[in-house]
Parts: sequence; C-alpha cells; structure tokens
Amino acid sequence: MKLTDKQIKTFDEDGYLLFPELFSEEEVGSLNAEVPGLYKQHRKENVREKSGEVRTNFGAHLYNTTFAKLARHPRLVEPVMHILKEQVYMHQFKINGKAAFTGDVWQWHQDFATWHNDDGMPDARAMNIAIFLDEVNEFNGPLMFIPGSHKKGVLGAFHDTVTTTYPLWCCDEDTVKKLIDRGGIVAPKGKAGTVLVFHGCMVHSSSSNLSPWSRRSVYLSLNAVSNYIRKPTRPEFKAHMDFTPIRCLGDDCLLDSSVEVPLPWAENPEIAIA
Ligand code: SIN
Ligand code: MN
Repeated sequence: MKLTDKQIKTFDEDGYLLFPELFSEEEVGSLNAEVPGLYKQHRKENVREKSGEVRTNFGAHLYNTTFAKLARHPRLVEPVMHILKEQVYMHQFKINGKAAFTGDVWQWHQDFATWHNDDGMPDARAMNIAIFLDEVNEFNGPLMFIPGSHKKGVLGAFHDTVTTTYPLWCCDEDTVKKLIDRGGIVAPKGKAGTVLVFHGCMVHSSSSNLSPWSRRSVYLSLNAVSNYIRKPTRPEFKAHMDFTPIRCLGDDCLLDSSVEVPLPWAENPEIAIA
C-alpha cells in the first residue's frame, strides 16, 4: 500500500495518519478470535493491570499464526517503509487490552524516549502502526495525540514506575501543557479494522476505560533496519533482537489458511493456560 504525496505531507505536519476501516470485518474477526486464548495464558508476555486483566500481550507474532501473518501484512508494513524509506524489522509487537471498566491509563509519553533510554535505539526512525480490534470511541480510552508534537524531537522524560503496572518514560505536565496550548489534542476514533500510524516522537496518552466496551488494539513498532537497537536492557519480548527485514505476505494472507509462517516461540513448556 503506497501513501499519496498528500498523506506524506499530512504525516510530516501532524505526525499521524488515520486509515478508516482498512481491514474488513472478516479479517478483524479472524484476529479477535485469537485474543481470548492468548490473554488467558499465564506467561511473562502477558502484562496484567492491577485488576488482573491483560494490559498488554507481547510478541504474539512469534507464537500465534494469525498474528504472525498480521506482523507481515503489506497494509501495515508498507506505509511505514514508505515513510522511513527503508526496510523495517519488528522492534515490538503488542495487543493492548484496555478492558471494559478497568483498562488503565497510559501517561503522556513519546515512544522514542523508552526505545532510546531502555533499548539503545539511536534515532527516531521507528514508529507504531496500530489496528483497532474494537471500535474506538470517545468513551473507551482512545489514544490522544498532540498534533505536531513530533517536530519537537526528543523531550525530557522521567521514568514512571508507579502509576501503572508498565514502566514508561513519560513527559512532565509543564511540557505537555505548553505543547497542548499550541497544538491542541486529537483522539482519532473509528470502527474495528481502522489503522493509525504515528511518529516515534509523537506525544500521546490514553485515559482509563470506564465504558462497558473493551478497546483492544494491536501495535506493530517497526524500526528501520539501519537503526537497530544497540544497548537493550529489556527482555527480548519487549525489545526484539532479530533485525531481519520483514518480508510482506500477500494482501489476503489473513483469510488464506494455506499461508505458512514461522512460530519460533510456539513451544514453551512453562506456559500454563487458565
Ligand atoms: C502506548 O502508548 O504504547 C499504548 C497506549 C494505548 O494503548 O492506549
Ligand atoms: Mn506509546
């Protein structure tokens, strides 16, 4: 999938692009069918909220066929390669739960702060592309962006290890207020199957989910191959060390049961299923 010149210009200016319903109901259905089975496993790749619900499932593309296909999907990988003008590898792959009633906040942050400080990523030549597995509306904790904030480059950050169960390098309130005074806040929303790509320096957050609707989304964090991480401190499931460029599958891969993908983490004797 090639971006238009207008889309590239919008991305440069705003730091994000929204593609409404890029994946069909049937494709999203194939992904959603796999999530409960992944979330009920007791494995280190499932980081839970204080409530016990899964906040983030990491690395499913290495042990689940459907998500392994998604990780090689041309509708996700090609736009990022187009923007970065380079081949990419998977730095991180996650399925965030943001469960109904209990899904917790993500404080204001830039992803590149964590990628740089914790993983030794040299430059902000990585970015997230997200696919909504549920409808995202104003009530279920949509991502919030400060348009144009990516142009500020790397901002100061503090390591928040207390607010939630997931340590994160976060922006201070003064900085966030100044950025919002200038750029405002947007919360891109859409039906399941919608896709959102955003710059590694985009300042973003999401509030808790008090609604009765879960807000599950998959995030592929794709890094330019030349920008591979130099000093990882986090476990492999949070910061991958396989820098092999992704080779895309066909556009219909999610619905084609004959497509084969490697699953290197599929056989793990430590995993217990509830
Ligand atoms: C993230 O910023 O990495 C995730 C935020 C969210 O899922 O709301
Ligand atoms: Mn983030």
